[in-house]
Amino acid sequence: RGPDTYSPTGTPTGAPQQDVAQSGDRLTTAQGARLHDTDHSLKAGPRGPVLLQDHHLREKITHFDHERIPERVVHARGAAAHGVFVGYGAAEGITRAAFLAKDVRTPVFVRFSTVLGSRGSADTVRDTRGFATKFYTSEGVFDLVGNNIPVFFIQDAIKFPDVIHAGKPHPDREIPQAQSAHDTFWDFVTLHTEATHHTLWNMSDRGIPRSYRMMEGFGVHTFRLVNAEGATTLVKFHWKPKLGVHSLVWEEAQITAGTDPDFHRRDLADAIESGAFPEWELGVQTFPDTEEQMFEGIDLLDPTKIVPEELAPVHPVGMLTLNANPSNYFAETEQVAFHVGHLVPGIDVTNDPLLQGRLFSYVDTQITRLGGPNFGQLPINRTHAPVNDMLRDGMHQTAVHSGVAPYRPNSLDGGCPFMAGADTGAYIEVPAEVPAGRKVRDAAASFDDHFSQPRLFWLSMTPTEREHIIAAYTFELGKCYEQAVKERALKVLANIDGGLCAQVATGLGLPVPEPETALTDPRPSPALSQLGRRWPLD
Ligand code: HEM
Repeated sequence: RGPDTYSPTGTPTGAPQQDVAQSGDRLTTAQGARLHDTDHSLKAGPRGPVLLQDHHLREKITHFDHERIPERVVHARGAAAHGVFVGYGAAEGITRAAFLAKDVRTPVFVRFSTVLGSRGSADTVRDTRGFATKFYTSEGVFDLVGNNIPVFFIQDAIKFPDVIHAGKPHPDREIPQAQSAHDTFWDFVTLHTEATHHTLWNMSDRGIPRSYRMMEGFGVHTFRLVNAEGATTLVKFHWKPKLGVHSLVWEEAQITAGTDPDFHRRDLADAIESGAFPEWELGVQTFPDTEEQMFEGIDLLDPTKIVPEELAPVHPVGMLTLNANPSNYFAETEQVAFHVGHLVPGIDVTNDPLLQGRLFSYVDTQITRLGGPNFGQLPINRTHAPVNDMLRDGMHQTAVHSGVAPYRPNSLDGGCPFMAGADTGAYIEVPAEVPAGRKVRDAAASFDDHFSQPRLFWLSMTPTEREHIIAAYTFELGKCYEQAVKERALKVLANIDGGLCAQVATGLGLPVPEPETALTDPRPSPALSQLGRRWPLD
């Protein structure tokens, strides 16, 4: 392993760290006492009862009893790899983030996942895939916690528990384990029609990727970049796989789920082991940071909308290569903790209400999943930048903090004053204007259009891709028990495209409903696509 890759002791900066995993050639207790027998309990005679005093027996069984931790509440099933990210320098004009500067090499850890299935579910199910990247930059950890689909089901994080409850197995029968073919899922996405766009991507070939190595990744939300002069640009992040985007066909996905449920994790690990390192180019679409935060009529704060690449092309800013498999699944893939709030100077968030809720949710869930507030000290989560925080104690604390005054400034610890604003390398939130208005539980009117972008997606499909989408809706809806849910789903499809709706209705043996919205053609005109030349660095 080269200097860019992960150190199992988690101390790439060279700080001394004791490796608490196996060392020495003799088997010992957890306390280091050498054992002479680990196969027989201590008994009152060879045929007598086991003695309570057998510490080795109790230590071994007790530790085993507590080996499992809760799986992630979503994205439970995943596979991950280590790698390196190299900046091109192309983004230096729009962000001061050091890891995007030319030829800077940053170690990364990437975890791919399905969303709904449990830890033991199959890889090739129809679902969204997670694409989460941890950059161990010189300025701290930056996490880009994205998916392989560029839009999301909902516009406001307050609905996240609801959409996940609808997608997870039914509370009574716990059916199905990992697919969208059930009543609550279709009930939710047809009553909350902002989910139409994401659902259509799921029903397309994008929902059954051929390989993690052949998926795009998207940051979904609009982020705000800031350069050394303080100028800001709105961006959407894209990962483009060097191998191209490929999918399974439905029958392949079904058979593979039975014959090799580990297909995707095997594919990723085998490729890396054989030296066929997967690569992705990171790119950004850029938009002027205007007061409205709209671009050609598209609300940049609405996570159910894309900006077509004809209007804003993706500009490459760096290259990711995955070059090492984890050496221990639990220590690395299971214990890694991503967070959209892990940002570095030069990258900031926007007011997207989905992103704002995510900023709260990740650390909250990880306190339960990883047992307390100190999971940032786990080797896989530890930043490669120096840490000098005022966080103390708590469950599973492994640091031995020095000093007597864990607050700044203080007059007792011999220096280390903290002067607000003195550090030019510090993370400073962009002092963006907050729109004035009344406190309301409401959304902007621009969030109300739920059908023109699904139509844009449908119109961009080839005839074969359309056939696959029609077959997917027919199969999945065919599994619903409730007639009313199927009928409502057809009404949604009527608002996307008459042909799509009619063919699914025929497959289900149901009448074709009329559309409730005007079926305008949302494709950008060729003149509009010239706007794509707006990249500030061209
Ligand atoms: C986990 C992506 C929306 C809560 C994840 C993971 C990804 C992801 C990739 C797996 C991380 C890993 O591999 O460990 C996204 C994307 C979203 C989105 C792209 C929308 C654009 C939300 C929202 C919430 C949420 C709105 C809650 C308000 C969670 C939670 C986990 C998770 C609780 C489990 C984290 C853990 O246990 O470590 N998400 N998510 N997500 N997400 Fe999201």
